[in-house]
Amino acid sequence: MNNREPIIAIDGPAGAGKSTLARELARRLGFLYINTGAMYRAVAWKALRDGIDLQDTDRLGALAAQSIIDLRGGVDDMRVLIDGRDITEEIVTPGVSRAASIVSTVSGVRRALVARQQEMGRAGGVVMEGRDIGTKVFPEAEVKIFLDASNAARSERRYLEDLSRGKTAPSLETTQAEIEERDRRDSSRSDSPLVQAADAVRIDSSVLTVEQVIERAMALIAARRSENAEYTE
Ligand code: DC
Repeated sequence: MNNREPIIAIDGPAGAGKSTLARELARRLGFLYINTGAMYRAVAWKALRDGIDLQDTDRLGALAAQSIIDLRGGVDDMRVLIDGRDITEEIVTPGVSRAASIVSTVSGVRRALVARQQEMGRAGGVVMEGRDIGTKVFPEAEVKIFLDASNAARSERRYLEDLSRGKTAPSLETTQAEIEERDRRDSSRSDSPLVQAADAVRIDSSVLTVEQVIERAMALIAARRSENAEYTE
């Protein structure tokens, strides 16, 4: 048993509310917040910029290994940098979302990013969100939450998010089709597909308010912490 602060892994499909939950937990606990999806998005952004063929797995793996990806700032003002350039606003477009879903199927890309994520979270006191945090990045995480929601709820949320960003948002139907395509790719890839870890607690955010989701997660964290405290006494 070690004495470091816990690692909290939040996994689940796109639009389930992972970022909202992870940020709020990090804020309440005073933990570091790490959005691993932003790292896959950064690699995708650079691949698109450099005109790399998204089927060229060798080049994509090399690109991920050679790029310097930084997540800076706090919970509310996280900035994403690649090779020193701030690309925070540029990585949330539908084009980058689609490309990120493709590059994240590449084992070389995953190897490079998972190693960095493990380095960033090793000291504990971290809330890390993604698709494979509880299964692959930190299988030993003290708290694992699989946040899920119905397709309809996730599509509607993403659609409203796009609208509020002032983007010329695609229709709700297009958003739903894109989310379904990403779900299919994220869940069917051979390397670290999106699956619920056996010891993760599933929370369905389509039937709960944001506050209820946060309360359930906080209760789970408190329970795990007291179990661990008993165990170490
Ligand atoms: O969470 P997000 O939508 O920003 O993630 C972007 C893409 O990266 C998404 O298609 C899934 C992939 N991803 C992944 O494969 N593993 C992670 N740990 C995080 C994201």
